[in-house]
Amino acid sequence: MKTDTPRPIYLRDYRPPNFLIKSVNLDFKLDAAATKVRSRLKVRHNPKSQVHNAPLILDGENLKLDAVILDGNTLTRSQYRLTKTSLTIPETPIKPFTLEIHTTIDPSQNKSLQGLYRSRGVFCTQCEAQGFRRITYFLDRPDVLSTYTVRLEADPKEAPVLLSNGNRLERGTSDRGERHYAVWHDPHPKPCYLFALVAGDLSSIAADFKTASGSDVGLTIYVEHGKEERVAWAMDSLKRSMRWDEKRFGREYDLEVFNIVAVSDFNMGAMENKGLNIFNDRLVLASPETATDTTFEAIESVVAHEYFHNWTGNRITCRDWFQLCLKEGLTVYRDQEFSADERSRVVQRISDVRQLKAHQFPEDSGPLAHPVRPESYIEINNFYTATVYEKGAEIVRMIATILGAEAFRSGMDLYFERHDGEAATIEQFLECFAEVSGRDLSQFALWYSQSGTPHVECRTSYDKRARTYSLTLKQTTPQTPGQQQKNPMHIPVRIGLLGPDGHDLPLTTDAGDALLDDIIHLRQPSQTITFTDVPARPVPSVLREFSAPVHLEVELSEKDLAFLLANDSDAFNRWQAANTYAMRTMVAMVEALSRGKRSSRGTGFAKALSAALVDDNLDWAFRAELMRLPSQSDVATEIGQNVDHTFIYRAHRQLTRLIARRLEDQLAAIHDTLKESGPFSPDAANAGKRAARNAALQLLASLGSKTAINRTADQYFNASNMTEAAHALNLLAASNSPQRRTALDHFYQRWHEDHVVIDTWFVAQAQSPRNNALDVVRALTRHERFDITAPNKVRALIGNFALMNPVQFNRPDGKGYEFLVEQILAIDRFNPQIAARLLNAMRSWRALEPKRRKLARNALTKITKHPDPSRDVHEIVLRILDE
Ligand code: BES
Ligand code: ZN
Repeated sequence: MKTDTPRPIYLRDYRPPNFLIKSVNLDFKLDAAATKVRSRLKVRHNPKSQVHNAPLILDGENLKLDAVILDGNTLTRSQYRLTKTSLTIPETPIKPFTLEIHTTIDPSQNKSLQGLYRSRGVFCTQCEAQGFRRITYFLDRPDVLSTYTVRLEADPKEAPVLLSNGNRLERGTSDRGERHYAVWHDPHPKPCYLFALVAGDLSSIAADFKTASGSDVGLTIYVEHGKEERVAWAMDSLKRSMRWDEKRFGREYDLEVFNIVAVSDFNMGAMENKGLNIFNDRLVLASPETATDTTFEAIESVVAHEYFHNWTGNRITCRDWFQLCLKEGLTVYRDQEFSADERSRVVQRISDVRQLKAHQFPEDSGPLAHPVRPESYIEINNFYTATVYEKGAEIVRMIATILGAEAFRSGMDLYFERHDGEAATIEQFLECFAEVSGRDLSQFALWYSQSGTPHVECRTSYDKRARTYSLTLKQTTPQTPGQQQKNPMHIPVRIGLLGPDGHDLPLTTDAGDALLDDIIHLRQPSQTITFTDVPARPVPSVLREFSAPVHLEVELSEKDLAFLLANDSDAFNRWQAANTYAMRTMVAMVEALSRGKRSSRGTGFAKALSAALVDDNLDWAFRAELMRLPSQSDVATEIGQNVDHTFIYRAHRQLTRLIARRLEDQLAAIHDTLKESGPFSPDAANAGKRAARNAALQLLASLGSKTAINRTADQYFNASNMTEAAHALNLLAASNSPQRRTALDHFYQRWHEDHVVIDTWFVAQAQSPRNNALDVVRALTRHERFDITAPNKVRALIGNFALMNPVQFNRPDGKGYEFLVEQILAIDRFNPQIAARLLNAMRSWRALEPKRRKLARNALTKITKHPDPSRDVHEIVLRILDE
């Protein structure tokens, strides 16, 4: 182990800090290999501390300590203790004191991308969750809030731009122009994980924003020289986010400036440092020629997300890292709502639910399952998960559903008012909603502590004579690691009943408060609701808008599904019906294939789909969602055991081709008539048309016919934007056509000098299901444009191969698993966070059929035998193998 045997940290062990740090003065002499950091802290004993005479224990990692000065006196070696991860000062004054610490760090050697590092020559920082301790010795915990003043000094040629949090106080030159400096001050007390600095040679684009109450804010986005033309969309997204947060949540911005910096080497998507957000450059840079609609959409939502953290995360932060969902789940909910308001609400909901089911559901049903608020961790970086983020967002959404929009807003207002400037907990958050609504949320709170996706089974019965219709809902939550016993949850189930004419029937019942408006409040293990005056057997539409993150099982015939797809007033459930129909068909196909047979199903679904596609009341983005079949991984998750990816691949292709053959003319017409005319616009309506066009092409391309390939190649070579080009490139890269090589070479020639765009070329090859995919990917790890220390490259090539190419990653010979483990061990030597994330691709290994299962286990065991894994990888492997 690189560190000593890692010990878990427990929520129940939380204690308030023994010391508080009122202010922090940081002085950086920036130098690539030896940056000098001087930190001056105003420290005092915490009156709320439960320990008397506690020593001052500061966190620190990979630091060279040069001096410790307490109230002006340099401490001798016997006056402090130093370990690999801490600096302890046993004796401190009773009165507030000043502690000065001098350290030296080496950003050029830092490939973990935590703390201070260099990205293509730019100095930048990443401190969440525990990176600040790699900059200086400190109380690196989110409940220690301080005001920061930061002085940066650097070579003006190397780093003309000097940025930190807050507002700039002054700037100037020193050493006769050899050096220059800037001083920044952030008046808002913050935890150290929100500290940031950037220093480098960057271009900037500026804009102005006037807040609702009339303050002027200077907005600036910093990017690499030459990329200025690609900043407009991020800036536009930022302004819209700021306005939206004022309107929807009454939240204004609170500094004179707001800066965003795009860097190339970044472990995550982006980071909400106070007043100085740092972004992965692929989530800032976009132009029609270089970025797809998916990227435009992602930029809009990530810019919004990080901006929204200013209130949910920064002004109100987390007491400890167990409360991570307090800021992340809530902020994801807020960015989802923003996108829903800016675009199509139902399409946004479909995409959020797809994401939840594709990532969070498998996590929650496997060895890595954990509560939205975990109770212990070994490495906190491993808990930035789909569960904390996405299930966390679903919980906030359920609160809004249960309370209604108005009471939800009052609860949020109370939360902002009561906890502004504090480090809060989930209990305090929930208490605000309980107070404004007068509701008892104690059962609801189980959503935070109980892991596993609840199963809800819905049975129905109709009594023709009595004209009554009953719904019986049963809930169970499966066992998960460390949780054998589960209690019944409070699950809001939104419903409707469709009469024979396809319209909603009125919901008359005497169910009392078990049914409020159209929501069944399921709180018992089993509950029956009887509706009266029901003239004919209705078709139930259950869990409208996906009102709770559960597995739902309803008895619905294929006829019912087609009926819902055609008629449901809840557009989400129209899509859900199509998705369920397609999934059922594919699962039947897999089953037949595994018995050496061929299922004859599929025409029913094709017919229902065809009918929906001509419904001009549906916007194109929605119709595109209907054309997108469940992915191979979705099917694997649905099957859940003895998974054979070869059969799934074949079944997927079988249904895709069947639809393409039956709907060939209709799909070709969609592809022809939606052809781009006029200038590119990234708005939702135009993006929807492109999405529908691409979805139609994808179905057609599965035929592999000359016509289909020519159509695809034509789209690639005549594309007027990256949305068309990248999609066609992916399809060609997956084909066995002669145009495959020409298109890939053409793309490489056009974009090889652009380190962001060229990732599209790696992705296309990583995802190709051709039999030589592994050899191609392995060869590409040695390509001159690949760089194993750059997380975007690793994700594009290795991540996409392991996660988005199930049939080739899960080769029957196990070579895919061996390759991944080899790469993980190589990456773990310098970037444990990225290595541990890649391991996610192996978490469902127990669901594989026996042969692959054994090979996957062998590959994983190799990691346990490794003498020196990081804490990050060590923890995930232990949990995946459950040993
Ligand atoms: N605070 C996180 C970034 C972060 C995550 C820092 C993990 C350190 C460790 C940021 O707000 C975030 O959540 N970013 C997401 C994107 C967001 C739109 C969900 C990310 O980076 O993936
Ligand atoms: Zn976040």
